[in-house]
Amino acid sequence: MPEPILDDPATRFQEIDPPPRLLMGPGPVNAYPRVLRAMSAQLLGQFDPEMTTCMNETMALYRHVFQTRNRWTFLVDGTARAGIEAALVSLLEPGDPVVVPSAGRFGLLLQEIASRCGAEVTVVEGEWGGVIAPGAVEAAVARVRPRVVAAVYGDTSTTIAQPMAEIGRICARYGALLYVDATATLGGMDVPVDEWGADIVTAGLQKCLGGPSGSAPITLSERAAARIGSRRHVERGIASGADHPSGGRRIASNYFDLAMIMDYWSERRLNHHTEATTMLYGARECARLLVEEGLASRIARHRAAGIAMATGLRAMGLTLFGDQAHRMANIVGIEIPTGVDGERVRARLRTEFEIEIGSSFGPLAGRIWRIGTMGYNCRRDAVLVTLGALEAVLRTEGVRVPSGAAVDAAMGCFQ
Ligand SMILES: Cc1ncc(COP(=O)(O)O)c(C=O)c1O
Repeated sequence: MPEPILDDPATRFQEIDPPPRLLMGPGPVNAYPRVLRAMSAQLLGQFDPEMTTCMNETMALYRHVFQTRNRWTFLVDGTARAGIEAALVSLLEPGDPVVVPSAGRFGLLLQEIASRCGAEVTVVEGEWGGVIAPGAVEAAVARVRPRVVAAVYGDTSTTIAQPMAEIGRICARYGALLYVDATATLGGMDVPVDEWGADIVTAGLQKCLGGPSGSAPITLSERAAARIGSRRHVERGIASGADHPSGGRRIASNYFDLAMIMDYWSERRLNHHTEATTMLYGARECARLLVEEGLASRIARHRAAGIAMATGLRAMGLTLFGDQAHRMANIVGIEIPTGVDGERVRARLRTEFEIEIGSSFGPLAGRIWRIGTMGYNCRRDAVLVTLGALEAVLRTEGVRVPSGAAVDAAMGCFQ
């Protein structure tokens, strides 16, 4: 008998029982209880008619969420970057020119993924916290004539949203495909996919959609689907005699091969991966919640909570980070006051108040905090409790903050 690696596992690890944290960072946020309930439902076989009906319903629901008529609207299994990677690896082949407007961590991620695909990446660099001038994007597109322009709508690292309608018009003028990362904006800000003329848009559940990370909603235009179809090579173990490789270069990833994933989500149900059933249930419930609330009301709720949070922070005497005219509705950056230990404040909020807020990355690490008001946590009580707790911690850290002003100002916004 081999020696057991753990002498008595049952006594060493407890059942999962997380503390009651209020997640007010840039995501993940607390999930809607209904989403968690949906995710506790029993599994189904992946070709069971009940399962394929659930997949079709999810496609219909996400057409509404993405404001699109795109037939190809479905889920990629994996976190938000699974959607990004699937989009870029399926569109791009080595040598393809790509333009990436980039002004934050997730712009850098798009550059990296595109260059891993072997694409020739031209970056239109913007200041972190600012908007990239559409003129600069147009100049790069006119010069490079890219196959794809890949852009982040709301870059969570900086809290700034880029002018996507403008970028869409530029792509249309030059015949480039437009990929948009809407991970942190879908379901909280307006993401009108068809109106923008976007060809692929992807997201995640863990922000404004109010679910856990692990499923990436995606939508593709007919043009994007045709490009990907031209690279279709069905895996040998599942191909039938009718599945001849198309002429295009094979997509470099099997897991993220959108041509094969689309075969699975189509009437053909050609087996690719084993669909992540529990994530499907969760993603479906996230979309059902949004549809019930109404897209316009959902967006208005995010705008109202974001304004109340920002107003409260200003009333506390804090300085907001970045170009406020282009700040995302659902997340705000705050300059950490001079002399304050930002990580200590975050730790005290967590241990004394059970509240999580975020820090940031790269040039903004240690410079700003980020507070999100998203999905299930986009609520008046969550805003007020967070402001009250931050005020208490800052005061006891020696920052002079007017007592009660933040909560009063935010309450005023909600009236
Ligand atoms: C704008 C944006 N894009 C991409 C990602 C990556 O998402 P994930 O961590 O789910 O892969 C995030 C995550 O915070 C994000 O905010």
